[in-house]
Amino acid sequence: MRWRYPPVRRALFLALKALDLPRDARVLIPAFTFAAVPSAVVHADCVPVLVEVGANYRVDIADFAAKLPGAGAVMISHMRGHTSDMDAIMALCDGAGVPVIEDAAHSLGTLWAGRRIGTLGRVGCFSFQSYKLVNAGEGGMLITDDPEIAARAIIMSGAYETNWKSIRA
Ligand SMILES: Cc1ncc(COP(=O)(O)O)c(C=O)c1O
Repeated sequence: MRWRYPPVRRALFLALKALDLPRDARVLIPAFTFAAVPSAVVHADCVPVLVEVGANYRVDIADFAAKLPGAGAVMISHMRGHTSDMDAIMALCDGAGVPVIEDAAHSLGTLWAGRRIGTLGRVGCFSFQSYKLVNAGEGGMLITDDPEIAARAIIMSGAYETNWKSIRA
């Protein structure tokens, strides 16, 4: 089957693949997320590690810091617009050299300290599925400032050479 509008779960999967993580890499995700998130991690041959979330729906930073050592990547779902402490998460991840993927499926247009959610981590993923703010029926998008990740994601998505023309909206 051809995904004309690939959903964000495929963007999450491609982000992990584009990071070139080794098989069985641990990927930290918030315990409060959507089933597509751990399933994208498993699909990418990685291992989801659940991080505690507080009553405010935000990542518990003490539990996050305890589980971060040795992680291959971090995937943060900003659930229902509740943004976790991205200053603390980015400082810990930058210090440990762990890439951050933002799952901004619920947070299109929201800001953290004046910066757009989805632009803070190495990769940002957005959903255009029918319940989301921008509705393409099914659909999603991956953004990054890293040209190598962008190139790898394009090739792995099957949009290489001129094929991208056939999957334009
Ligand atoms: C937080 C979160 N992440 C990812 C997804 C997956 O999005 P998609 O249906 O575009 O694959 C959803 C779907 O609702 C979601 O709620």
